[in-house]
Amino acid sequence: MTGTLTPTASGLGDGLHVAIIMDGNGRWARRRGLPRTAGHRAGGKAVRRAVEAAPEIGITTLTLYAFSADNWQRPAAEVGALMQLFERHLRDETPRLHDNQVRLSVIGRRDRLPPRLVQEIGTAERATRSGRRLHLRIAVDYSARQAIAATAARLASVPASLAGFTRQLNRTVHSVPAAPDVDLLIRTSGEQRLSDFLLWECAYAELHFTRRLWPDFNGDDLAAAVADFRHRERRFGGVSPRLAAV
Ligand code: FPP
Repeated sequence: MTGTLTPTASGLGDGLHVAIIMDGNGRWARRRGLPRTAGHRAGGKAVRRAVEAAPEIGITTLTLYAFSADNWQRPAAEVGALMQLFERHLRDETPRLHDNQVRLSVIGRRDRLPPRLVQEIGTAERATRSGRRLHLRIAVDYSARQAIAATAARLASVPASLAGFTRQLNRTVHSVPAAPDVDLLIRTSGEQRLSDFLLWECAYAELHFTRRLWPDFNGDDLAAAVADFRHRERRFGGVSPRLAAV
């Protein structure tokens, strides 16, 4: 593979790409004596808060991990409730996304999702395609390893540059427009793992872990994570200009 990895153009300016592993819904519910599904519903409200806060703090791409390929192992009742929640969320939020100039993509596999959800995804993506303030990507039935392997298989006979591979990877996961590399990856609930999320796109991501459970996460938490990120020195394998001068 040759060439350097250049950010892919999203048409949304050059703000930040922030990715979030939304963790802790189950613990949030258990602490309140509620079923896990109540935690997921509260998590849906936190999604809305994050989407509303993001453009104000310089985020132009926001990728949220809603359901991993490994989450199919959860009890059927919880999986069913999550699929219904995604469908309802898309139906209810699409007018607001459109009004707020947010373009939606649902990334991941579609062939194992309930047909009604697939239909709702298509409707929401078409209805929001003019959005230019924020590209919201919701990852459903997503596995970074599967996406990379599927992309490699497609390109097997064609020598790809890193940028070409990235373009094809975006196509594999249905990201329209293509997203640039992740700048900042946030995981809530105190866990510190990547869980097969955006492994390629996070090559130089800064990491931010917070103990806050996802349903409690709000716009101030997102702003604090971005403020912390803005103090980091990103060297991309080079040396700090301060040290280079010594
Ligand atoms: C992880 O917490 C969360 C999930 C697997 C589901 C994420 C779903 C939402 C945030 C619901 C709303 C999303 C959209 C897009 C409408 P967990 O259940 O593993 O929590 P635990 O580790 O405390 O058990």
